Amino acid sequence: MPKLSIRDLKVRGKRVLVRVDFNVPVEERDGKIVITDDTRIREALPTINWLREHGAKTILMSHFGRPKGKPVEKYSLRPIGDYLHTLINHPVIFSHDTIGKIPEEIIAHMKEGDVALLENVRFQPEEEANDPEFAKALAKLGDLYVNDAFGAAHRAHASTAGITKFISTAAIGFLMEKELRYLHEELDRPGKPFVVIMGGAKVSDKIGVLKALMEKADTILICGAMANTFFKAQGIPIGASRVEADKIDLANELLALAKEKGVKLVLPADAIIAQEVKAGAPSRESGTLTPEHGIPDGWQNLDAGPETIARFTGEIAIAKTILWNGPPGVFEIPDFAKGTFAIARALAQSNATTIIGGGDSVTAVKQAGVADKMTFISTGGGASLELLEGKELPGVAALSEKS
Ligand code: 3PG
Repeated sequence: MPKLSIRDLKVRGKRVLVRVDFNVPVEERDGKIVITDDTRIREALPTINWLREHGAKTILMSHFGRPKGKPVEKYSLRPIGDYLHTLINHPVIFSHDTIGKIPEEIIAHMKEGDVALLENVRFQPEEEANDPEFAKALAKLGDLYVNDAFGAAHRAHASTAGITKFISTAAIGFLMEKELRYLHEELDRPGKPFVVIMGGAKVSDKIGVLKALMEKADTILICGAMANTFFKAQGIPIGASRVEADKIDLANELLALAKEKGVKLVLPADAIIAQEVKAGAPSRESGTLTPEHGIPDGWQNLDAGPETIARFTGEIAIAKTILWNGPPGVFEIPDFAKGTFAIARALAQSNATTIIGGGDSVTAVKQAGVADKMTFISTGGGASLELLEGKELPGVAALSEKS
């Protein structure tokens, strides 16, 4: 049954509690908090602006960082509220308390179109414990509830899930709707060939996702440090490369599963190797990797080599749907960024539906300057992976159904 959408709500004059994910990367510069990537805030704007245009009193709730249930100054949402003010060109009233008299009074004085932001819900231990009393106190602040925090939808916390038990109407926001459309519906019936590029450090983080994607993908391109575990499984020496020694059987299992399902599972053919993971460290091409010619002792696989780039970009060129999660190299260091940026550019040139499944690949397409060429970029990290794994997200499951 589809979920109730924000579009279905009559919001004029109503207090609408909106759970957003304003957990954005920040840096302290000259004693000031500077947001280094505001995507999650910008992506919440369609919901916030729609509510304002329709005369709602919008009350925003979010977590920020992991303050472990107590107030921590550097995780205050206040600077995020100030930043939002500049984006919507309207004051954002900040409540230092998350529940109780202070927010109640602030909200009582709000007018149609006004926006308030509550302090970090994770300053209370009850948030992550999904405590019913806390959820009830949050629910008391609104007439309607909207969840637009896709990035936190895999958490069954008081503001993402528990709250829905104490408020009659709980709808899905525009960002959440868009994330589900691409990561769930689109990938359920992908245009073929469907090519998945899966990278990152650990194969153990991606087991569930890889298994689930084998049901749908035609080709899976494995890259990044997780490829080392597959190399090891195939008897290819990996030198001093990062590896999960206890996951070699698992890599073999995944190789066998791909064969059984008729999925083309492609490992890197070669690598850029160096003895140290640092800028300026001497590096070279490994040549084609085989059991007889692997990565030498003391050297590490730090990026995709030219043969791998050619093979991967060839697969990308013929794909109709592409999902990318995890870079092939340590692209934070320019010497090891070539493979990652080559993939980003190949995606930008492709006519396929290109979906960036969250995490480091998002940073990669942004750094490569091709973010605007992608069909969809997810704002989720863990939430995207859980959705791709086929798991139910508590933050979505808890919402009201369309009647
Ligand atoms: C994220 O950044 O992935 C989300 O905001 C969730 O944060 P969390 O992992 O601290 O729950």
